[in-house]
Amino acid sequence: MEIKIFDTQEQLDSSAADIFVNLVNQKPNAVLGLATGSTPIGIYENLVNRFKQNKVSFKAASTFNLDEYVGLPPESDQSYAYYMHKHLFSHIDLPAAQIHLLNGMADDAEAECSRFETLLAKHPLDIQLLGLGHNGHIAFNEPNDQLSSRTHVIKLKEETINANARFFASADEVPTHAMTMGIGSILKANKILLVVRGADKAEIVKKALTGPITTQVPASLLQAHAGVTVLLDREAGRMLG
Ligand code: F6R
Repeated sequence: MEIKIFDTQEQLDSSAADIFVNLVNQKPNAVLGLATGSTPIGIYENLVNRFKQNKVSFKAASTFNLDEYVGLPPESDQSYAYYMHKHLFSHIDLPAAQIHLLNGMADDAEAECSRFETLLAKHPLDIQLLGLGHNGHIAFNEPNDQLSSRTHVIKLKEETINANARFFASADEVPTHAMTMGIGSILKANKILLVVRGADKAEIVKKALTGPITTQVPASLLQAHAGVTVLLDREAGRMLG
């Protein structure tokens, strides 16, 4: 596991964007696993700028997003589909047919998860971008006695609903369920890029990267993957020795 710590957010975002740009320039049809939340916003901004400067083209690339809320249509400004279009897809040359998102409005959420997992099996991820939840979740794989390996429907933990309430009018409006890639779907990616910022995540960063591997800290399972790069700001990395 390679861990890099940055003094500024600009350096961190730019370094993460470099990893994606270099990959896509070397392998134009790369399959990119993407995340939402506050952490990747600056990385996507960087990617959009590089595209506008003709430093990269996403014409042949394809993407898979980690997760989506159940019950939110893509037009809802709280949906992850909306977020992805707003921050990345509408600004770059990635063809719509090469964007893979979970449909939060699918009549049968379980069938939607199977459809997604089948597509993932056909298009192995070259890289998966991850943020880290305060409780150690990656994607929406919440701490539990057992974790699901493949894409599945999950009931969100109260702490996750509260953490995500900042994007909604109130916690009551946060959907109670989500669809998420499973830990196995994530660990199949060739490379994993975990990005974490902020003092409030320092403790969980330490547990996830240096503590025992346990389903109670889903991100700790990343320790078992040979191709993980972790990018941290000083605050998030302050408890690492
Ligand atoms: C988002 C996702 C989540 C977030 C995590 C951190 O697609 O899967 O696991 O990465 O909750 O969120 P932020 O970046 O908002 O702190």
